[in-house]
Amino acid sequence: MTKVGFPRIRVLALLFIALSLGLVGTLLVTRDDARLEPLPLAHGRPDPNARPAIKTASPRETNIKEWSFAPPRVPCVGPRGLVLGSEENDDNLRESIIDISYPRPFVGSHETLGLGQTWMTAAERYGPYGWEEEKPSYDRIKVAWNSTDWAALQNQCLERNARRFKDTTPIRPTERRFRMRKPGEEVRLPAIHPQAAEHVPRTAIVFRAFEGYNYTKEDLVNLRATIAETALRYGGEYTAFILVDVKNKERNIFSSEENYQRAVRELVPPEFQGMAVLFDETLLQSWYPRIKSHITTYQVMQPLQLFGLFYPEFDHYWQLELDVRFTGHAGRYLAAMSDFARAQPRKQSIERSTWFYMPTFHGNYSDLLAAVNATLEGGGGLGWDMRIQDFEPIGPRPPVDDPRDDNFEWGVGEEADFIAVGPCTHVQYMVDWAWRHWYQGLRAGTGTPRWMCQPAMGRASRTLLLAAHHAQAVQGLAVHSEVTLPSFALWHGLKLVAPPHPVYRDPQWPLDKMNEMYNGPGDVESHKKPGMVGMARGEAIYRITPHAYITTSASFWYSSAFPDKIYDAWLSRGFRGGNDSDDLPYLLWRSEDGKIYAPNMMLHPVKTNENLIDLPAGPGPVAYAAMGGVVVFILCLAAAGLRWWRLRRGGLLYTPLRR
Ligand SMILES: *[C@@H]1O[C@H](CO)[C@@H](O)[C@H](O)[C@H]1NC(C)=O
Ligand SMILES: *[C@@H]1O[C@H](CO)[C@@H](O)[C@H](O)[C@H]1NC(C)=O
Ligand SMILES: *[C@@H]1O[C@H](CO)[C@@H](O)[C@H](O)[C@H]1NC(C)=O
Ligand SMILES: *[C@@H]1O[C@H](CO)[C@@H](O)[C@H](O)[C@H]1NC(C)=O
Repeated sequence: MTKVGFPRIRVLALLFIALSLGLVGTLLVTRDDARLEPLPLAHGRPDPNARPAIKTASPRETNIKEWSFAPPRVPCVGPRGLVLGSEENDDNLRESIIDISYPRPFVGSHETLGLGQTWMTAAERYGPYGWEEEKPSYDRIKVAWNSTDWAALQNQCLERNARRFKDTTPIRPTERRFRMRKPGEEVRLPAIHPQAAEHVPRTAIVFRAFEGYNYTKEDLVNLRATIAETALRYGGEYTAFILVDVKNKERNIFSSEENYQRAVRELVPPEFQGMAVLFDETLLQSWYPRIKSHITTYQVMQPLQLFGLFYPEFDHYWQLELDVRFTGHAGRYLAAMSDFARAQPRKQSIERSTWFYMPTFHGNYSDLLAAVNATLEGGGGLGWDMRIQDFEPIGPRPPVDDPRDDNFEWGVGEEADFIAVGPCTHVQYMVDWAWRHWYQGLRAGTGTPRWMCQPAMGRASRTLLLAAHHAQAVQGLAVHSEVTLPSFALWHGLKLVAPPHPVYRDPQWPLDKMNEMYNGPGDVESHKKPGMVGMARGEAIYRITPHAYITTSASFWYSSAFPDKIYDAWLSRGFRGGNDSDDLPYLLWRSEDGKIYAPNMMLHPVKTNENLIDLPAGPGPVAYAAMGGVVVFILCLAAAGLRWWRLRRGGLLYTPLRR
């Protein structure tokens, strides 16, 4: 008996050792090698005991910059039929200037983008859009939202401003523009037209939704706010749509008008039905038969590419997810991004766009430009006259042969073809991003320089969308969702900019550590890694798995929990799991009378739904743990088996006994 029991104990001991080794290995792999000590919870918190002056007013239309070459905006009306922007009324939001120190973002800058350092309570921000309208304290005229028609409001606004645009095609709610590709239908590369000098460009705002999305009260006020503050406040410069991914192909939305309209009625809240555009996977298959996958994870841009094809009245297309929130004026935020992008030169723009811009270390943005330029010794950087083997670029050739002869003038004043909402990374140098090798049809394969700007949102020009559309439809050429638009922009010599908009984080760590984790060690001038000269290359971004705890705590990062925490506290409904007011995120400010103010920022993601559009960035620490554990476990088992076999062959200790 003892002879049988003895090896079992050994095997068990080996198993135990294997698992322990796996655990230790996992801890090593996922270790916090920066060993960052968070700053105190209240670091940077505006003085909670201050009794500052608070100036509250409606943002005036006159504060919004006009286009020098076009007639001025004609004010439009909001859902209550009141004129927006020019007077104090219930259709306008209110914002405050408060005489306290403004919370400092860890990345980006309000000043650099020309964003106001304003504050708003949830009631000031969302009051015009029905927030807390059920409460007796609601002091605005109530609106019958179900009979509000946002498409009609937008059309009315566009019509009033028709003189300012070249193409004034309105939203036609019953028109179904998406259709299948006809057999043999040709797809052409877009021609580059010079920027119109006397007409204001038109921009579509495309909200991404899907069948099964539950529109909560917050989703509704967020949509109303964004539409009113872009399309209506900007005199028709923007037109908002909801692009709905119909998951159930059996709805056959393209087989009859009736099926399509029924799906619109069933899947979209009444007030937005006029601005809904529906697609399903069969549409993507029809246009992109050579692309292996059409699902969101791989090809989130395909529907937007088709939107660009079928809605040619627009010059630019913002793709926004439903889990984005603007705690300040949404229109001004988006305009600040495009104003910044327009003013940027093309030279070295991809290099600059990789930096998590921190004014403390980089100075003004022009200092960052000069530092990147010094690192590149005045060269053009990777985006200058870039060519890949797969096609000829459609973008303009550089105006001079030697980039040193361009004193950062090329591209200044030109609309960007791609505006990223987060810094970009060089995919070839990423260590553990799950899709770093994913491509289809590239001649040089993974040797092709590819770029990713997270998350898969941003503003694309029609030219860029049609160029990606052509490559996918005709050449069967594809890269992963977040890689698509930045890479096609660079491959085609189009202008790409990642404006450094303000982002906060929690917990806070010393800024120098943050700079090192996000941008890499050393100052800008020391970034000379071949292939990445002049680029940021922070460990937290290039080796994401062990550093996930760093990136997942920013106010703008696809997998961060911080935006929800801010939003819950701001909306005064307690954090998920607690109501402790001392836990108020440091960037919010509570006034003496208990109102909670938020600074002006863009949050992502604020979850009201399981959002299927968010894309995971890598395998994640748990997968590493499992992999490490399993590998060590198998090795130990093999060792145990070998030992058992040798013992058995030697016949030393035991042969199984049969009684
Ligand atoms: C508005 O429409 C939605 C969806 O059709 C419905 O659930 C809701 O009860 C309506 N609300 C009012 C006030 O009619
Ligand atoms: C860029 O670098 C070149 C070469 O070092 C230099 O001559 C030029 O003045 C720099 N330009 C700027 C704006 O820093
Ligand atoms: C937090 O406070 C709000 C308002 O007082 C209350 O409705 C909510 O239930 C509280 N939440 C928790 C988790 O205690
Ligand atoms: C919407 O709500 C239903 C019912 O509560 C739920 O089953 C579904 O998962 C929700 N959808 C999403 C996208 O969260």
